[in-house]
Parts: sequence; C-alpha cells; structure tokens
Amino acid sequence: MGGKLGTIFARAGHEVVFSYARSEDKLKRLARQAKGKARAGTPREAAAKADAVLIAVHWSRMDDLLSQAGDLAGKVVLSCSLPMNADDTALVVAHTSSGAEELAKRIPGAHFVSAFNTVPSEVLFGVYAARDKANRPDLVYCGDDAIAKKLAARLIRDAGFEPVDAGPLRMVRYTEPFALLVAQLAYERKGGPEVAYRFQRYGKTNTRGKKKSGSGP
Ligand SMILES: NC(=O)c1ccc[n+]([C@@H]2O[C@H](COP(=O)([O-])OP(=O)(O)OC[C@H]3O[C@@H](n4cnc5c(N)ncnc54)[C@H](OP(=O)(O)O)[C@@H]3O)[C@@H](O)[C@H]2O)c1
Repeated sequence: MGGKLGTIFARAGHEVVFSYARSEDKLKRLARQAKGKARAGTPREAAAKADAVLIAVHWSRMDDLLSQAGDLAGKVVLSCSLPMNADDTALVVAHTSSGAEELAKRIPGAHFVSAFNTVPSEVLFGVYAARDKANRPDLVYCGDDAIAKKLAARLIRDAGFEPVDAGPLRMVRYTEPFALLVAQLAYERKGGPEVAYRFQRYGKTNTRGKKKSGSGP
C-alpha cells in the first residue's frame, strides 16, 4: 500500500519519502520509479518535515514502526493499517473499538485520519490512471480532526477516488470490517483483485448531494 500510494502521490506532484522496509534498496528503487520528487529515508526522516505521514504496515510491526518514527505530535497521520492477526485471517480489535482508534491513542497529539484501508492495493494504479474519467470510485475516510480530514480528502482525490467522509474516528469500527468484505470480494471471488466501490444514493438527491431534476416524490 505504501509503495503504491507513495508512487501515486509523487506522480500527483507531492514530495514523498519512502520509508520502512527490510531493504533500503527497495525504498530507493520505489523512489526512482516514482519519477517525481521522491526519495528514500528512515521513518524519522520521513516524518520530520512532512505535512502528512501515511502509516501502512502490518499490525504486528506497529511497535517497531512507531519507535523508529519518533514523536509524531502535531503531524497529520493517515493510516490504512488494519488490525489483523499474524496470518491475516481476523481483526484483533473490533466491535467496541477499532485498530485506528487504538493506534490514534498511541500517537498523542497527532491529527489522525483513517483512510485507504477499504481498497486492495491492486486497484490503486488503475483508479489513478482513470482519475479524469467520470464516476470515480468512492473512498471512505474517518477522523475527529477537521483540518487533517481536509488534507486526507485532498490526497484521496489526488489518488483518483471521491472522498466520502464517514464521520468521526469511532466509525472505523464499521469501515475496518467493511475492508475485510472488500478483500473477500477482491481475493476470493472471480474477476481479480482490482476492486473498488461506489455508493449510490437514490431519491431526491444524487450521490453528490445535488438536486436531481425531474426526480419522483
Ligand atoms: N495490501 C492491501 O491491499 C491492503 C489493503 C488495505 C489495507 N491494508 C493494510 O495496510 C497495511 C500495509 O499492508 P501492505 O500489504 O502494504 O503490507 P506490506 O506489503 O507487508 O508492506 C508493509 C511495509 O512494511 C515493511 N516491513 C515488513 N516487515 C518489516 C520488518 N521486519 N522490518 C522493516 N520493515 C518491514 C515492508 O517491507 P518489506 O519489503 O521488507 O516487506 C513494507 O515496506 C497493513 O496493515 C494492511 O492490513 C492492506
């Protein structure tokens, strides 16, 4: 997720620092191939001057990642990480909390947003390539901080999705299980993993909240 989203953000004109992998060569290769203003760095270097930090690591790596990133207070922190068990078969936090809420508590002072967790990585380049076409797929995001959510919405739009504000961070209790549904459709059903989604509102308003002309009662 981090490699692909970083590449997309760099191609969309953002300055990107790729960090956290077992091989520095992989991070350097990602930065080279992104072809924008991108470089490799440590998590601490990536976070230091960033307007936004994306956390995209397995739940089991979170302690290590956070210790390497240093103090993230005051930063806009986006996370697409899902609270999965070791073999990626189940959520280890659910119902009464969510991975995002637990992670946010561990980063005091950060402006936290949960985003990009509800689509498979395989669809990201396709969505970005189709960003100028009509009917962009939706992408839900959640958070309690209005300024951080504004920045997240911009990044979601830059990646080719239509941002859908799903409300406060506690709504991630619903988006994380939804992400597993999308993964089931992507990886366990026919047709391949390039799956995204789009919500359609029926009635007096269309999906984008505009009044429909000639709509029914
Ligand atoms: N993949 C998806 O489609 C998807 C969709 C929605 C949400 N998510 C969530 O997003 C998060 C990231 O998923 P992902 O599939 O992108 O994970 P990933 O492919 O494992 O990538 C995570 C990063 O962590 C690094 N890493 C792993 N073990 C490490 C270690 N011991 N030391 C240093 N770096 C290490 C990886 O580098 P290496 O190259 O060294 O492995 C990679 O750069 C997860 O929480 C997942 O649940 C994933």
